[in-house]
Amino acid sequence: MDTSAGSKGFAVKTAGLTRSFGSLTAVNHVDLAIPYGEIYGLLGANGAGKTTLIKMLTTLLAPTSGDAEVGGFGVTLSPAQVRGRIGYVPQLLSADGALTGYENLVLSAKLYGLPHAQRNARIGEALTFMGLADSAKKLVKTYSGGMIRRLELAQAMLHRPTILFLDEPTIGLDPMARHSVWDRLRDLRHDYGMTVLVTTHDMEEAEALCDELAILHAGRVAVVGTPAGLRAGLGAGATMDEVFAHYAGGGISESGNFRDAVQTRRTARRLG
Ligand SMILES: Nc1ncnc2c1ncn2[C@@H]1O[C@H](COP(=O)(O)OP(=O)(O)OP(=O)(O)O)[C@@H](O)[C@H]1O
Ligand SMILES: [Mg+2]
Repeated sequence: MDTSAGSKGFAVKTAGLTRSFGSLTAVNHVDLAIPYGEIYGLLGANGAGKTTLIKMLTTLLAPTSGDAEVGGFGVTLSPAQVRGRIGYVPQLLSADGALTGYENLVLSAKLYGLPHAQRNARIGEALTFMGLADSAKKLVKTYSGGMIRRLELAQAMLHRPTILFLDEPTIGLDPMARHSVWDRLRDLRHDYGMTVLVTTHDMEEAEALCDELAILHAGRVAVVGTPAGLRAGLGAGATMDEVFAHYAGGGISESGNFRDAVQTRRTARRLG
């Protein structure tokens, strides 16, 4: 599957990946390497460039400069090969509410070119895997937010992609629904060996789910590391929220002595 010696071992590898919109550089010379089999988290404030980066990796948006390999293929030179190896759940809900869960999956199966003979078996497997078998015949507009997210995951896994891209997969979900999406993602990695790239604003999710994180700030990679490594790098007792505030920059630190406040709270925790 991996045809390029340069990207051996990496599900995603970007080199100087850049995308501008007019005078705004939304993604600015990003170099990332995501090993196969990881659940990788992309963090960053609103507008940091997460969705733009994912759109380039999924071949929906052309880079202005630089390049990326996904599953061993270049997004610019071999977009069809890339598309055949990925699944994508966009930031905004994408399932059709006027159709049933089953009908949404049939649409995806056609979109991905699944052979007719395999279609029903794959759909049944995906519905069961996501805990939706009993709801398959119901209209999606009657689903809860968590069920819709799981249906979208079912749609994205139908063709057994190597790499899944999920843009804020648990936004707006209650804690139970969120945990059930996490469990399904861990299962996809464990049972199918999928590599998963998620964006999130939820620091608990980043810590509980992700093997490795990259924090974007104004289109650039501010830092890469494991959740524990990033916390340790900031000092004993640092939380993921503090890591995010430190690297994602912007509003909070402008408001004054945020670092001092963090330090004071940490000291208080150590003492108390
Ligand atoms: N099609 C577009 N045309 C012009 N500007 C765009 C376009 N898409 C994104 N941008 C700008 O690029 C920057 C990055 O946007 P992007 O959607 O990638 O951020 P994000 O990190 O996903 O933010 P959020 O956390 O709010 O989803 C923003 O300033 C945004 O306004
Ligand atoms: Mg976004």
